[in-house]
Amino acid sequence: MIDLKVVMMGLGYIGLPTAALIASRGISVLGIDVNQSVVDTINKGRIHIVEPDLDGLVKHVVERGFLKASTAVEVADVYLIAVPTPFKGNHEPDLKYVESATRMIIPNLKEGNLFIIESTSPVGTTDKMAKIIFEERPALKEKINIAYCPERVLPGKVIYELENNDRVIGGLDEKSTIAAQDFYRHFVKGELHATNARTAEMCKLVENSSRDVSIAFANELSMICDKAGINVWELINLANKHPRVNILQPGTGVGGHCIAVDPWFIVSDFKKEAVLIKNAREINSYKTNWVIEKIKSTALQFELDNKRKPTIALMGLAFKPDIDDLRESPALLVADTLLDDGEFKLHLVEPNLKESTKYNLVAYKNINADIVVYLVDHKQFKAFTTNAIELDFCGVKK
Ligand SMILES: NC(=O)c1ccc[n+]([C@@H]2O[C@H](COP(=O)([O-])OP(=O)(O)OC[C@H]3O[C@@H](n4cnc5c(N)ncnc54)[C@H](O)[C@@H]3O)[C@@H](O)[C@H]2O)c1
Repeated sequence: MIDLKVVMMGLGYIGLPTAALIASRGISVLGIDVNQSVVDTINKGRIHIVEPDLDGLVKHVVERGFLKASTAVEVADVYLIAVPTPFKGNHEPDLKYVESATRMIIPNLKEGNLFIIESTSPVGTTDKMAKIIFEERPALKEKINIAYCPERVLPGKVIYELENNDRVIGGLDEKSTIAAQDFYRHFVKGELHATNARTAEMCKLVENSSRDVSIAFANELSMICDKAGINVWELINLANKHPRVNILQPGTGVGGHCIAVDPWFIVSDFKKEAVLIKNAREINSYKTNWVIEKIKSTALQFELDNKRKPTIALMGLAFKPDIDDLRESPALLVADTLLDDGEFKLHLVEPNLKESTKYNLVAYKNINADIVVYLVDHKQFKAFTTNAIELDFCGVKK
């Protein structure tokens, strides 16, 4: 048992596993969420998201009293923020959740506290929140430690990666960086790389932009290859035999909370400079529209050949393989667009989603469609066979 009290703001895909991991080290953690049902679920030792191994860990730490959830912040030693950082309609970052979490913490702050933002944030956010804190509590200036430490876990492997990935830690001053490193050492086995807050903020944005640019290259190739009559999966496999080439896999587009969002945080602040980053974002978005057009033209051809409209099965709605997360999902955009069109009878298949209030889901084994469209490379689809026309946009059949 370690004599430390930690408050985690936001109990979602990042905050809950992090809170549970910290609690598993015998540290008392109070998880805060504005959503009462999230709080109630966790206090029963259950979870509201799909993440392997998380249910057992949460049950364990809640039963032992190391993790509690609440809607009200309490006095603690360390405050962590893992609330959403979406963008607004114009792709400008929306910091309202980080700011509201910061304001909820402020009345509880005391000398010696450590305040850490983990939410993916535009450069300068940590400094902005520090200004808000010191406007309200000027006496705390230089008396608390403030740092930024981004998260880089892979959904589906969160518990392992939280513990084992290296972390980049940037304090607003050196003593804050050291205090944050000391804290993360309690539960992170990976290396803790020290820097300043602005570099740590940019580091997270650059990591995801780098992935976005690389995927855009693969997506652009997939559209070129379609026109050229070349199998893009075979092409990439062959090109990657070169010892210094590593092309990623194309797909329906790029989704999720991170890669499809974070590059905009650079573009919005560096409009003139971030040309490649912006183009990549646009190519990856365009790829989804291209997929929609391909499905429609295949359906039209079917209608011409068979004198009736086809039934189309859309295989996968999540933003990436083997998870239930629908956020910014290109596959979901395909489904929504075709549903809105109302032109075709659709079977929506998402084996990782137990139920959906919005979508009428069909078990993939029960589908009886004329056109089967693979949108997400879920493992269940690999062995699936059909006599229907198949469109594979995610390489599940490669
Ligand atoms: N999901 C990922 O894989 C991932 C990876 C790296 C970084 N991130 C970043 O981590 C941050 C959190 O992402 P997430 O996926 O965990 O989001 P999430 O939507 O799953 O969870 C966020 C939670 O915060 C709660 N919340 C909102 N405002 C609050 C407030 N003022 N106080 C307390 N709780 C509040 C919400 O109710 C929600 O339960 C984001 O900045 C995201 O970009 C996410």
